[in-house]
Amino acid sequence: MMIKRIGLHGALLLILLLSSGCAYRYYLGMHGPSIKRYPEIHQGVTKDSECLECHHPERNPTGPPTTHPGFTGCLKCHND
Ligand code: HEC
Ligand code: HEC
Repeated sequence: MMIKRIGLHGALLLILLLSSGCAYRYYLGMHGPSIKRYPEIHQGVTKDSECLECHHPERNPTGPPTTHPGFTGCLKCHND
């Protein structure tokens, strides 16, 4: 009985890890739309916290809300 319980939880955990791994890989190497399409708006903006002021989905953003407010290093994917 104990062993079966551990096995089930192990399997669930594995599925969770695998699916989030795939979601993450979807973004790896995949660059988002560039902030340079709107240079006037984004001039001088470098910090994630600044980006989120205008793009966090729960803060009534002035720009299009991001689907991934938890990401760090926004410019790694949005600066070219
Ligand atoms: C002062 C508010 C503001 C800040 C700060 C800001 N943005 Fe934006 N951003 C906007 C607005 C407004 C638009 C929409 C422009 C439009 O559609 O005309 C936009 C558009 C975008 C887009 C969509 C571009 C496209 O081609 O669809 C991305 C991606 C983006 N911003 C990322 C960022 C990142 C990354 C940062 C931080 C480096 C950032 N923004 C900082 C206001 C801001
Ligand atoms: C690992 C790369 C990566 C990172 C880091 C990243 N993004 Fe993105 N972003 C993407 C990709 C790919 C898309 C397009 C697919 C989508 O909308 O999910 C996107 C889309 C967006 C959009 C939507 C643009 C539109 O026109 O709707 C916004 C806004 C945005 N990101 C903001 C941010 C902000 C703010 C951060 C930092 C907190 C950030 N991104 C970090 C890859 C990234």
